[in-house]
Amino acid sequence: MRNDYKLIKKSSTQNFFLSFYLLIKIFLHKKRYNKKIKNNFLKQKEYNEFANKNLKINNDWFTHNINCLDFFFKKNNIYHNKIEALEIGSYEGNSSVFFLKYFQNIKLTCVDTFEGSNDEKADKDYQNKYDNSIYENFVHNTKKYSDKIRIFKSTSQNFFKNINDKKYDLIYIDGSHSAKDVFDDAINSFNVLNKDGYIIFDDFLWDFYSSINEGPMGGIKLFLKKNFFKVKIVSIDYQIIIKKL
Ligand SMILES: C[S@@+](CC[C@H](N)C(=O)[O-])C[C@H]1O[C@@H](n2cnc3c(N)ncnc32)[C@H](O)[C@@H]1O
Repeated sequence: MRNDYKLIKKSSTQNFFLSFYLLIKIFLHKKRYNKKIKNNFLKQKEYNEFANKNLKINNDWFTHNINCLDFFFKKNNIYHNKIEALEIGSYEGNSSVFFLKYFQNIKLTCVDTFEGSNDEKADKDYQNKYDNSIYENFVHNTKKYSDKIRIFKSTSQNFFKNINDKKYDLIYIDGSHSAKDVFDDAINSFNVLNKDGYIIFDDFLWDFYSSINEGPMGGIKLFLKKNFFKVKIVSIDYQIIIKKL
């Protein structure tokens, strides 16, 4: 896969057109939905109240996405579906609990080393070191849903190679944030995604590295380049959501 990654990365004309295409998509998405998404804050408020009361969260890397996600889930009538879901990067379980709480018929597979990534540790907003409390918080936060959840303490690379035994309808990618790892997670996820299934990529617009393309954006763009006619972009903002055609 490494060669594949280098090969796709090379073509700069294609990169230019893809970036331009994505920029137009973001613009149109914002123009169409921004007002509706901004006014769609009730779920976020409700979840924040619930989380403040019930969850042990040191770093909230999730709830700012809720307005947009909720808008998408409602628009596509997804909350009520029977969902086999996979989450790469669960951390303390903030995003996991959101899915477990609001999806009425979900089975969720969570994959995380629970050891953190270097970029997170370097983030100025990062509150504490990765230690056992991260996994302990995850277990505490998700214990109410233990019948709906499988937990794998593993890298996503190892999970896809040696552990996974399922296909999924919804995959949330929020593990390692380097372009190469996001590309690998995207390709591996796409292979185990059902037709009409969705991948949600977190941090598409995360501007943390010296070049934005060293982060999730770079990996996601390469994935889109390889699979341009096999996917539909159904939401594009800070997170990007694609559907498998
Ligand atoms: C940003 S956090 C996830 C946040 C979580 N989704 C939430 O809403 O709170 C990223 C997580 O990915 C995990 N991670 C980093 N590299 C990974 C890898 N190669 N495989 C699996 N998990 C990884 C880290 O341990 C960390 O817990």
